[in-house]
Amino acid sequence: WWMPMGAVALAYAVGSLSFAVLVSRVMGLSDPRTYGSKNPGATNVLRSGNKVAAALTLLLDAVKGWLPVWVVGHWGAGWGLGDGTLAAVGLAAFLGHLFPVFFRFQGGKGVATAAGVLLAFEPWLGVAVLASWILIAVFFRYSSLAAIVAAVFAPFYYWFGDGAAWDVRGPVGLAVAAMSLLLLWRHAGNIQRLLAGQESKIGSKKGGAA
Ligand code: G3P
Repeated sequence: WWMPMGAVALAYAVGSLSFAVLVSRVMGLSDPRTYGSKNPGATNVLRSGNKVAAALTLLLDAVKGWLPVWVVGHWGAGWGLGDGTLAAVGLAAFLGHLFPVFFRFQGGKGVATAAGVLLAFEPWLGVAVLASWILIAVFFRYSSLAAIVAAVFAPFYYWFGDGAAWDVRGPVGLAVAAMSLLLLWRHAGNIQRLLAGQESKIGSKKGGAA
């Protein structure tokens, strides 16, 4: 039992690395928890005006979701780890981002990390969800709306997509659904701002953010 537990604990620790905070610190920028939406995520780092910092945050937050799942997917069988551990590891990395042990459990909303986890679960699923995010982002210019729509679609893509790969009621399907629900819950404030017409668009700077 210690192998699956160890893998889950490690994934949670990796997920707890809040790259919005770390990248900003290393690059000498202000802490993203102090401006804009105050969310430690790539969207809010972009409000600092530094595109490189935002891109790095996006990439690293996604990699920390992708890597633990990929490792278990590739070597897990040899260690006696199955789909249950694979799903739990993905969820653990995602939960690490939301409730980081290194940052007083005050984390982000999980968009980039979920994308990384989904890409590692099933590349086609990750690509489909990313494509949905991009489509909404390009048309409506709201990062949050793009994430909300992508999160609603993700479980359906999984269920109606290549269902043969995994039983949809299996652990991976449950992890996909759980991540979507948690992600929507974390966007409650964004949903209120969108409905009130007060959400800031992609590209608007610190002052314009709610
Ligand atoms: O990455 C989270 C995004 O969907 C919304 O971020 O800063 O606008 O609340 P933010």
